[in-house]
Amino acid sequence: MKLVVANHKMNLTKEEVLSYVDSVKDFASNTVEFVFCPSTLYLPYFSSLPLGSQDVSYLKEGSLTGDVSAKQLKSMGVLYTLVGHSERRVKLHENPEMIQKKIENLLNEGIIPILCIGESIDEKEQGKVEEVLDRELAILSSFTKEEIASIVIAYEPMWAIGTGVLPTNQEIENRVRYIKEKVSSLYQVSIRVLYGGSVNIDNIDTLEKVSNMDGYLVGGASLDGPRFLSLMERMR
Ligand code: 13P
Repeated sequence: MKLVVANHKMNLTKEEVLSYVDSVKDFASNTVEFVFCPSTLYLPYFSSLPLGSQDVSYLKEGSLTGDVSAKQLKSMGVLYTLVGHSERRVKLHENPEMIQKKIENLLNEGIIPILCIGESIDEKEQGKVEEVLDRELAILSSFTKEEIASIVIAYEPMWAIGTGVLPTNQEIENRVRYIKEKVSSLYQVSIRVLYGGSVNIDNIDTLEKVSNMDGYLVGGASLDGPRFLSLMERMR
């Protein structure tokens, strides 16, 4: 069953969120598992739905004004949390040490981390995609096999996020295979790999032909409730 994760980023007002929840609350599917990652502010409004968060503090607990701990997320019913999204790596200078601590805190609380990895356009043009994936996957080395097996990877090329420009199906398939084989050869575990970056209702039928990926991380196309449901209905 595919895993589909809606990442609302910093979008929607309270009124918009209330009508959003109303429009998706009765959705059920035999073909996809879906998770909503609203702005942290709105987590309580999504309490009747499968809940995810967009981030977690790298500190376990204590004093860090503005942050939210894994324990707090767990207490709100959060099941999955995005970690290492490129927007945070680039705009907030999140480093591998912080990302590793975030994953550790989530695993300790039984929340499934979704580790986001992917290259910039420059790195792609310089032929460094596998080097970037290796570097970003290296974070996994501090965890046990059992822990790694529970982590989900989201392959999100930065140049595909919010641009409407997608890799070809062949490129996605190659990257997903590379990630799976790498993790399998290093740690002897199989993991789920999602694709993210400009997934929408116009390209989903094409993306669905990629045979080896385990789901999607959807940004912009998840912001309208009914349209997001239509998108999921096209997935198998
Ligand atoms: P878009 O679907 O808007 O390209 O965003 C992708 C993304 O960053 C999801 O985490």
